Amino acid sequence: KKGIQVAIDGPASAGKSTVAKLVAKRFQYVYCDTGAMYRVVTLAALNQGLDLTDTVRVSRLAQAIKISFAPGEPEQRVFLDGQDVTTAIRQGRIDQNVSAVAAIPAVREEMTRQQRQIAEEGGIVMDGRDIGSTVLPNAPVKIFMVASAHERARRRYVENQEKGIATASLEELQREIELRDQKDSSRKVSPLVQAPDALRLDTTSLTIEEVVDRISAIVKKTL
Ligand code: C5P
Repeated sequence: KKGIQVAIDGPASAGKSTVAKLVAKRFQYVYCDTGAMYRVVTLAALNQGLDLTDTVRVSRLAQAIKISFAPGEPEQRVFLDGQDVTTAIRQGRIDQNVSAVAAIPAVREEMTRQQRQIAEEGGIVMDGRDIGSTVLPNAPVKIFMVASAHERARRRYVENQEKGIATASLEELQREIELRDQKDSSRKVSPLVQAPDALRLDTTSLTIEEVVDRISAIVKKTL
């Protein structure tokens, strides 16, 4: 088997996806955005009008839908039962509801199963909240990316504008990000936590390129 597993975790909008995708490209590894998967489940549940506290029905839905990815520029395309939902999963109503869905144990079990399956192929860069701690505990490279909440809100704001997504104000974005981190960190199953063997990387004053270079150097050393 060629290639290694690279786990990148951290709070919301720390730049994980952007960096993970570029690292994957550099090593020709598969890239998997696990946050997108929880977002797809949330979108499907909202579209069906499900009560998100109905954990039985939301879990059943998570098992029934087909989540898939396809390469794309500037971002990977995400599909729900064959329908392109790349933009739909970035809406504010998904940001606000995804933590509740991601806290459901059976939903996590199903996503974790699918993520491990994706990682079986060989070299992989996977980003999320629980990759180093739960999904791929044996990954030889584990990065925990952090940045100040203010900087993360600023990045999200710019990103929304570039993607043409209707964006909340900077202050509202920062509040949403902090609230989501709090929910993700305090849930019972696989909370957002730095794995003991993960390397903490504060990206507040680093450019994307600098972060990609640092992680790539670590991957090279580990190969
Ligand atoms: O990474 P992103 O911000 O798109 O993730 C959206 C949400 O999905 C997170 O706030 C979290 O609730 C959930 N998530 C998770 N475990 C992961 C990835 C994402 O619980 N591995």
